[in-house]
Amino acid sequence: MGHGQDAHRLVAGRPLWLGGLEIPAERGADAHSDGDPLLHALADALLSAFALGDIGQLFPPSDPAFAGIASREIVAHALEKIAAHAGAVTVGNVAAVVTLDSPKLGDQRKRIAASVASIIGIEPDRVGITFKTSEGMALDHVQASVVLTLIGEPG
Ligand code: C5P
Ligand code: MG
Repeated sequence: MGHGQDAHRLVAGRPLWLGGLEIPAERGADAHSDGDPLLHALADALLSAFALGDIGQLFPPSDPAFAGIASREIVAHALEKIAAHAGAVTVGNVAAVVTLDSPKLGDQRKRIAASVASIIGIEPDRVGITFKTSEGMALDHVQASVVLTLIGEPG
């Protein structure tokens, strides 16, 4: 299993990316990359399963080569790191919690889950996404937490 978490500040004039999709919103994540907290938490969860560190080590914010990098590339790189370390591994299922007060995302759950599923090559019904508000306590904040399972090849 793996576990990852990520948060970004919400600012005007930035797109909001979640699970590899751009979401219509008044504010987006202030970040060095596209600031997709769901994919960042997912990539950290993948790396954590094999004690391979975290995405801040792989993609240092101080390195201009990674400015504006698409988060799906970060996830792809985490999958490559795992394959190099442990051989063929597939994701069993993903359980994600996204905390964001606005906009409401319940009607986009299937789209976001399908996007995450396609990025990691699993069926959409293996990607559960729970949306939560902060009850108004963190209005400038988007946060994601991901737990996932990994299945190795027998032998
Ligand atoms: O945070 P809380 O428990 O009050 O969330 C209540 C409902 O609002 C949940 O059903 C959740 O799916 C939905 N929600 C949403 N979009 C968000 C935050 C919460 O659809 N950005
Ligand atoms: Mg509640």
